[in-house]
Amino acid sequence: MSEAVLILHVSFAAAWFGHKLLIPKDVRTSVRHPESAALLVTRMSRAQRLGIASGLGTLATGLWLMHLSTGLTSASVETYAALAAVFAMFVVGGAVASPAWAKIRSAIEAEDTPGAMAGVSGFNKAQSLESLLWVFALVMMVIG
Ligand code: HEM
Repeated sequence: MSEAVLILHVSFAAAWFGHKLLIPKDVRTSVRHPESAALLVTRMSRAQRLGIASGLGTLATGLWLMHLSTGLTSASVETYAALAAVFAMFVVGGAVASPAWAKIRSAIEAEDTPGAMAGVSGFNKAQSLESLLWVFALVMMVIG
């Protein structure tokens, strides 16, 4: 049972990280022209759905593994550190990356190319911070 949950957990975590890899360059280059920017909006909607599903899947299977092994209140410090990193990722995603993307999307929909380009740097910084937190969580998992 716990092996199956572990496979699910690692698969969700890999999808969470993997789906983000191409986003920063895609956003940076696609916003430059109205035609590619319009297509970017559709791709980003799909990416957002995948990000939310894989992030919640990682968290849920992580909690499930804790429940199956040590119990929710007696896990290792590293597991709690990974849990904190995952919550921090949700905070960065919800409070920084999503609003930053909403601004870019509004600018694209208003055909305001300079406005869309101006928002890219902030959005990509939030993406990088999320990826760093993900790597931190992975290190915690492996050494814990
Ligand atoms: C980005 C986030 C995460 C990544 C990349 C990740 C990755 C991993 C990996 C690779 C393993 C296998 C480690 C090994 O066998 O050496 C693992 C195991 C595990 N993870 Fe995560 N994980 C993440 C988040 C979480 C969270 C948030 C929790 C808790 C809520 C959690 C709880 C666990 C538990 C309990 C195990 C099993 C440890 C064991 O039985 O030795 N993980 N995780």
